[in-house]
Amino acid sequence: MKNKDFIDRLEQKAYLQKEEWIALFSSYDGEDRAYAAERARKTADRYFGKQVYIRGLIEFTSFCRNDCYYCGLRRSNEKAQRYRLLPEEILSCCKAGYELGFRTFVLQGGEDSYYTDERMETIIREIKARFPDCALTLSVGEKEEASYRRFYEAGADRYLLRHETAQEAHYNLLHPPEMSLPHRKECLRQLKRIGFQTGCGFMVGSPGQTPETLAEDMAFIHELHPQMVGIGPFLPHKDTPFAGKEKGGYELTLFLLSLIRLMERNVLLPATTALGTIHPKGREEGILAGANVVMPNLSPVSVRKKYSLYDDKICTGDEAAECIVCMKRRMQSIGYEIVSSRGDYVSIEKERE
Ligand code: 5AD
Ligand code: FES
Repeated sequence: MKNKDFIDRLEQKAYLQKEEWIALFSSYDGEDRAYAAERARKTADRYFGKQVYIRGLIEFTSFCRNDCYYCGLRRSNEKAQRYRLLPEEILSCCKAGYELGFRTFVLQGGEDSYYTDERMETIIREIKARFPDCALTLSVGEKEEASYRRFYEAGADRYLLRHETAQEAHYNLLHPPEMSLPHRKECLRQLKRIGFQTGCGFMVGSPGQTPETLAEDMAFIHELHPQMVGIGPFLPHKDTPFAGKEKGGYELTLFLLSLIRLMERNVLLPATTALGTIHPKGREEGILAGANVVMPNLSPVSVRKKYSLYDDKICTGDEAAECIVCMKRRMQSIGYEIVSSRGDYVSIEKERE
């Protein structure tokens, strides 16, 4: 094991210098990964025990005005099948999810101008009125600060906006010129300031990623100190400019989950669908590496395949009820248990001092 000292220091101080991150990402081996996973799991067990939170993902629109080079839903992809769920359909997904024990709903979609602030406000209010004991997470991209405020005042609790990479040159390699890293970061700061439990995150192994860009990601996460972090391997989509690029590393994704757990200790950290797609035991191993959340899909099966961010996405043929049974079994197989609570972020600022 080459990097035990770095990993021990990270566990003790919840921080590493950029140069240390670069050294670690340039030289880690299998023993480092195993050791980091063991320490990370111990850390997660301290806050969450053997419990895993569930979030019901509702992919409510596949229309997107953006043109990110990696994403199958990019506006230039003429082969993408576009759909949007109507408010009634979203509500029936929530109802089905509620009966299955979900107490968090995640509304995720492309940046779709049909869903104006007014329509979003109506749907947020309706969900919170019908399911007052549930948390509502939004993941609908970059908006004006006034829109974020309006969503928060309507009752949305959490917001996911992955930063994708914290290094500007790398960001510009993944996105067309009309998008910018400073604006993305500004959105994240606004969301946090407004009071959302806020999530950032990135793809592991996206084209152009290096030990240096990963060091920037870790430094940015440390600085933002978000309540949630979403990461998963980059997976190519056949109808995008990145079709021929190599997929991200499975082991590196697990390692990063462990490092994020050691740095952000009590953060809400999902073992994502992309991790389950790249490896049949990805979500289980993600939990064992330090994750504590899984996000089964609640979208109607009729639209599942159309929400195609990357090729070969899993769970596109299964009803929500089957997914949850499958997920419960998977978690039990590693000694963990899915729980029905909202699973809010609990601050530990005192402990950090
Ligand atoms: N591979 C992996 N993840 C992807 N995402 C988008 N496209 C891909 C891809 N090809 C992720 C992005 C985005 C989230 C919704 O899905 O990080 O923020
Ligand atoms: Fe919409 Fe990538 S094109 S998020």
